[in-house]
Amino acid sequence: MDFGFTEEQLMIKQAARDFAKTELLDGVIERDTNGIFPAEQIKKMGDLGFLGMMVDTEYGGGGMDTVSYVLAMEEISKIDSSASVIMSVNNSLVAWGLDKYGTKEQKEKYLTLLASGEKIGAFALSEPEAGSDATKQRTTAIDNGDYYLLNGTKNWITNGKNASIYLVIAHTSPEKKHRGINALIVEKGAEGFEIGPKEDKMGMRGSDTTSLMFTDVKVPKENRIGEDGFGFKFAMNTLNGGRIGIAAQALGLAQGALDLSIAYAKERKAFGTAIANHQAIAFKLAEMEAKIEASRLLVYKAAWLKDKGKDYSHASAIAKYFAAESAMWVTTEAVQIHGGYGYVKEYHVERLMRDAKLTQIYEGTSEIQQIVISRGLLR
Ligand code: CAA
Repeated sequence: MDFGFTEEQLMIKQAARDFAKTELLDGVIERDTNGIFPAEQIKKMGDLGFLGMMVDTEYGGGGMDTVSYVLAMEEISKIDSSASVIMSVNNSLVAWGLDKYGTKEQKEKYLTLLASGEKIGAFALSEPEAGSDATKQRTTAIDNGDYYLLNGTKNWITNGKNASIYLVIAHTSPEKKHRGINALIVEKGAEGFEIGPKEDKMGMRGSDTTSLMFTDVKVPKENRIGEDGFGFKFAMNTLNGGRIGIAAQALGLAQGALDLSIAYAKERKAFGTAIANHQAIAFKLAEMEAKIEASRLLVYKAAWLKDKGKDYSHASAIAKYFAAESAMWVTTEAVQIHGGYGYVKEYHVERLMRDAKLTQIYEGTSEIQQIVISRGLLR
């Protein structure tokens, strides 16, 4: 592994850092409090190329590697995880999957819009009764000749309301179990497609999470991704990369919490000295740093493996598991270091703690990552 970053990678990291500070920091508390989607900021992120980073330049993407993507995710997540989850879903769950497995026509029609950020994408796998146990899809896509008839409900869909292009996973041949599942591209506005109300979430409140309802929606056959029955494999392969993005998010928000804690600990005085001079605080800072640095190495390793064309499913599950668990621990300690100030919105760390919780839940809970990791060991 070589972590001597290229000049281009470092420029991307710096650009993301500058953008987060100048465009996202201002108003992040208000957007979180009131659950406001960062529409203006996401538009600018699209203009700067942050929404289709790994997409082929032929389709309007940045043609960048995964390492560049995680560096950018880390920087954006230090400040605003709502913006970074919108970015992550668009980049790694929607655009990457279409770029890798879509037809030329699908790419021309949909990917170019997603890569530029002109349209936002959503990835619809979870259902009311199929979250972790993803093979148990109840949504059906019945083959009706030149179209699929789509029926069912999806839950917990990031970008649910603000997306325009949805990748929907559904069962075509339940008797074939996971090998009878398809992934279909569905456009907002399709007849019979309804979007549920926005969930009132604990964290990442600027990003919209909704359910999606499909009643006899006709999806043209040419909107299927890959061969008949490829849908589950498509979802799993896509999630392997998605998990690297969420691991980078967890890493970034943990680093954000540590940066705030260091600044506070140097400033705040108790018992005649800055609290950083008390071992009770210094030891916490040291452990936060150790966990973050370990997360960083795991995230970069998973991204590097992906860029080298090696198997990264095991590494991405480890990175997501460790970075998410560490982020929860680090942000909780950040609140503790801040004392009463940590418990109010103005000091940011309570938001980071609420946001960290979600990294342990979506794109596969920590327990799902443990299943993936242990299966890899026992196979
Ligand atoms: N990569 C590639 N293929 C995989 C895979 C992986 N990580 N995990 C499983 N597969 C393949 C297997 O090889 C197998 O294929 P074959 O039969 O062709 O060999 C097939 O998938 C079925 O695998 P299993 O028999 O292991 O299936 P299972 O039901 O026992 O377990 C699971 C599968 C790993 C638990 C899977 O259901 C899973 O990952 N669940 C979690 C789903 C998830 O992450 N949901 C998050 C929703 S998306 C989201 O949050 C988006 C958002 O908006 C933010």
